[in-house]
Amino acid sequence: MITKICCIGAGYVGGPTMAVIAQKCPHIKVTVVDLNQERINAWNDNDLSKLPVYEPGLDSVVKEARGRNLFFSTEVDHAIEEAEMIFISVNTPTKTYGVGKGMAADLKYIELCARQIARVAKTDKIVVEKSTLPVRTAQAIKDILDNTGNGVQFQILSNPEFLAEGTAIEDLFAPDRVLIGGETSPEGEKAVQALVDVYANWVPKDRILTTNVWSSELSKLTANAFLAQRVSSINAMSELCEKTGADVNEVAKAIGMDSRIGPKFLKSSVGFGGSCFQKDILNMVYIAKSYGLNEVADYWEQVIIMNDHQKRRFAKNIIKTLYNTVSGKKIAFLGWAFKKDTNDTRESAAIYVADDLLSEQAHIAIFDPKVEPEQIHFDLNYLDTRSKEENAKGVSIETDPYETCKDAHAIAVLTEWDEFKTYDWQKIYDNMLKPAFVFDGRNILDGKELEKIGFKYQGIGK
Ligand code: UDX
Ligand code: ADP
Repeated sequence: MITKICCIGAGYVGGPTMAVIAQKCPHIKVTVVDLNQERINAWNDNDLSKLPVYEPGLDSVVKEARGRNLFFSTEVDHAIEEAEMIFISVNTPTKTYGVGKGMAADLKYIELCARQIARVAKTDKIVVEKSTLPVRTAQAIKDILDNTGNGVQFQILSNPEFLAEGTAIEDLFAPDRVLIGGETSPEGEKAVQALVDVYANWVPKDRILTTNVWSSELSKLTANAFLAQRVSSINAMSELCEKTGADVNEVAKAIGMDSRIGPKFLKSSVGFGGSCFQKDILNMVYIAKSYGLNEVADYWEQVIIMNDHQKRRFAKNIIKTLYNTVSGKKIAFLGWAFKKDTNDTRESAAIYVADDLLSEQAHIAIFDPKVEPEQIHFDLNYLDTRSKEENAKGVSIETDPYETCKDAHAIAVLTEWDEFKTYDWQKIYDNMLKPAFVFDGRNILDGKELEKIGFKYQGIGK
């Protein structure tokens, strides 16, 4: 039975996942390590509102397990040495250089982990891929471990994480399924069973699915591609709805009642974001192309093309509606995170909409209930469209939504935070320049009510 686990990478996946494993398995010591000292300090902060990842319910899980059998540390070597099972949960960003630039996953952090494990391990280890990886990465990890290790045995498992940010704790407590891929040898099967036993502490056995490694790796990419495809499909229909007088919410409801289609993941929006969808699809497109499967690659790439179009057309519509110029105009952004209930901004549609409006010399005032100002500056500067100074001049980051909207020509809703629905919209209207526009990129506000107040309201796909 496994009694010591370590996880390399204390990010949005590693942190919450390990916190739940520790909470549900008090007999297992779980150590989460990261090179980033600041991040580890935040995970160890007594003030639970300072945890580096915002997730509803995460604070109480950490409170219960931290110091009991859950530990956060920067001592990577020590944690590797001690653990029987090592999860790799480091970032695998899209490559920004060389072969596969802009498409393939950059596996340098994974490789560094594998080399470190090989160097440090003095006893047999089960190494678990938690990060989403291109299919056949397990082979690369195995090659490194077997060729550079100290003669100890390594078993590689693939155990992709399907949690969605914002609902991570719910998803981890009651997953639709846990997927574990392993080798079909007796040692492989033993390793798979060891991980099954960990999850079986709280997940019903019939929800723990075991496959070969390659099916597991590819299933994760496939699941994300299918989910993203649904969003791009409904977003494609949203543009058609706007031209034809149909309402995309009504269309989504009508098709979602077909049990073959189902009602979930059909919310039209300003475009999907997050660390996974775009990265995983591009990665899959790259893999397909590398096998010469051009039709397969083109089919999936269209999901990304549609998503880029949706973000850009939202910005274009703001400019067109504001009489073809936003130069010098204040546009209030409600929301910056890629979805509600998270402080994660990776690939958030807000970044790209802001980029387009800043290029048209708008002034953007931004309010998000959970995202730190430094993160917003980082996101805009990372794009490299303008200098840091120009970005800083064009943007103000606010702490009060009413101040954000004061004297604005228009409001753009970029994230579906629940609190936006409860604002005093009359007060917001009274303090805006007229005509006062609302561009609801999430279709969360009551357009009819806003129009009664006097707003000019536009949702997506209506
Ligand atoms: C996704 C997968 O859901 C999860 O299983 C995987 O482990 C990681 O990637 P995540 O990116 O955290 O999770 O959030 P998700 O809820 O999938 O939303 C992704 C993006 O799609 C968000 O920007 C969201 O706002 C958008 N979205 C989602 C829509 O625009 N409409 C929808 O109907 C659903
Ligand atoms: P995810 O959303 O997949 O969890 P994040 O970027 O939030 O991704 O987290 C990945 C974490 O992995 C980061 O905190 C980063 O510092 C950490 N990391 C990357 N490489 C290593 C490494 N070799 N050793 C320890 N931690 C690492």
